[in-house]
Amino acid sequence: MQQYENQALTIDSDKAQNGNISWQCPSNIAIIKYWGKYGRQLPRNPSISFTLDNARTSTSLAYKVRTSDATGIQLNFFFEGESNPAFQTKVEKFLSSIIDIFPFLNQLDLTIKSSNSFPHSAGIASSASAMGALALCLCSVEQNLFGTLQDEDEFYKKASYVARLGSGSACRSLYPVMGIWGERESAASSSNLFAIPWEQKVHQVFRSFHDDIMIVSKAEKSVSSRAGHGLMENNVYADLRYQQAKDRFDALLIALKDGDVATFGKIAEDEALTLHALMMASEPSYILMRPNTITMIEKIRAFRNKTGLQVFFSLDAGPNIHLLYPDEIKVAVKEFIQKELAPLCEDGTVIEDQVGSGPRKTA
Ligand code: DP6
Repeated sequence: MQQYENQALTIDSDKAQNGNISWQCPSNIAIIKYWGKYGRQLPRNPSISFTLDNARTSTSLAYKVRTSDATGIQLNFFFEGESNPAFQTKVEKFLSSIIDIFPFLNQLDLTIKSSNSFPHSAGIASSASAMGALALCLCSVEQNLFGTLQDEDEFYKKASYVARLGSGSACRSLYPVMGIWGERESAASSSNLFAIPWEQKVHQVFRSFHDDIMIVSKAEKSVSSRAGHGLMENNVYADLRYQQAKDRFDALLIALKDGDVATFGKIAEDEALTLHALMMASEPSYILMRPNTITMIEKIRAFRNKTGLQVFFSLDAGPNIHLLYPDEIKVAVKEFIQKELAPLCEDGTVIEDQVGSGPRKTA
């Protein structure tokens, strides 16, 4: 089993240089959902997601070799240009938790600046893009200081491993088009420890898919994903669910390869509704969909039945609708959104996105 604890990654301060790294990392939307985890952030079932394009986090990390005798993580954290104690604490905790992987973090003074391409108040605050960007920055620091991540595949694999420890779904955001996380025979080289790229076996039609996000509510959700995962441990449907996810995963890989949009769409919608059904069947039960989530689902299905156009929905762990459709029908779908869905969104907010080409190193 691949592990990344490495005590050798400590700085010999005579030679080490200060530096500054930045990465942009996109968010993702899972088609087979990760819901339920164990151990050190390991998934109960395989998941696969589209990597998005516009919804991104940009993170810069400046590091100076420490000259004071301060101990532990020394961090100044800024979100959207301002200091943010809540995020600062979260990032400090995360960095402390991966000191076995990057022991040199105790020898640096860090300044991290992070911002999102989408408004923070839009209700899609994404730990996936944030943790993805941070993990990429950390691996670049390692490469700068030690030259140990020269090989590109190794670089992304380690970044995905580290992103996973920050937030499970983040590990899939590091690859163009699609990423797979979780071990499954149908996906060669797949692992519970990191995600793998899944672009090659995806039909052309999916590579330019759209994902427009209907913001049903901008409010912070009442139950976090972390708590939601925890409730799966005592969910009476858990074992059946994990088997169902595996079966759907296998079927989806075939549909993705064949360009079978109808099967893809059926699985995507079934997964979204199953995710929310699991929440409703948790102890205690809870509901993250809002009335307009249901109204939109009904409108989407009615529109599809009436027009025959292949437009489908997904949901993440919140009330917002992700509208998934192929590029060739975008004109008709955008008109449908404007007429029928946008009026049901909070302040009419729709975030247009599509399948993207993965993270970018910007400095
Ligand atoms: C419903 O990755 O946010 O979006 O690992 O606790 O950070 P943590 O959870 P998170 O869970 C994502 C759940 C999901 C499905 C998915 O993206 O696969």
